[in-house]
Amino acid sequence: MFGANHTPIEFDKYISNLYASEDEILKSTIQEMKTAGLPSINVSASEGKLLYSLAKSINAKMILEIGTLGGYSTIWLARALPEDGELVSLEIEQKHAEVARKNIARAGLKAKVEVRVGPALELLRHISEAEQPLYDLVFIDADKDGYLDYFKTVAPLLRPGGMILCDNTLGHSAICKHNDSKMALFNKYVAECDDFTSIIIPVMRDKIDGLTMAVKK
Ligand code: SAH
Ligand code: DHB
Ligand code: MG
Repeated sequence: MFGANHTPIEFDKYISNLYASEDEILKSTIQEMKTAGLPSINVSASEGKLLYSLAKSINAKMILEIGTLGGYSTIWLARALPEDGELVSLEIEQKHAEVARKNIARAGLKAKVEVRVGPALELLRHISEAEQPLYDLVFIDADKDGYLDYFKTVAPLLRPGGMILCDNTLGHSAICKHNDSKMALFNKYVAECDDFTSIIIPVMRDKIDGLTMAVKK
């Protein structure tokens, strides 16, 4: 049977070799993260391409990212922006933000991207009270226990037809015996949320995980 002898890593390599080959800037971004001792928990190249494609498909001009790390997913997303597009990325670790800013500058995206340092929920409160932006796309990829709060806080800041994407929604014990893990409860909340039409797209890196796509009605 096709696929029976292939691992998720091999499937992912097949997809990324065809559709998501990394240029020198993305390769250097990964290298700089390694040198700085950041964990390798960035999205895969294929998931990066998926984020880019989704942002392109809705003509995203205003993007919010929660969880910057070294800026790898940030670069994929920001490359989808038009000339006057903007991306704000929230990160709790000063060191991560510094590595990300260097990588974003090398990618020539400094004018479009702003990395803000602090606990995401606090930064989000400021954004929703003081700035009241209208986002086309929000990518949630920070601490998994915060997902529900992040989703509820950003939902009113999204334009109709805009989307919230959430990484790692099949991992982190999403599938568990009593459906009572934090991720299981988050997925149930999104599934029952009448303001959004949603699905989990399976994605691969070293193992299978999921990317939630929630489109605002
Ligand atoms: N999106 C990145 C990976 C993010 S890893 C990529 O794919 O390239 C998760 C990041 O979220 C880490 O850098 C971590 O420091 C950050 N983080 C964890 N808790 C946070 C919080 N409460 N607020 C903001 N960022 C947080
Ligand atoms: C973890 C976080 C991520 O965003 C990810 O993609 C993989 C793992 C983690 O905290 O373990
Ligand atoms: Mg992730």
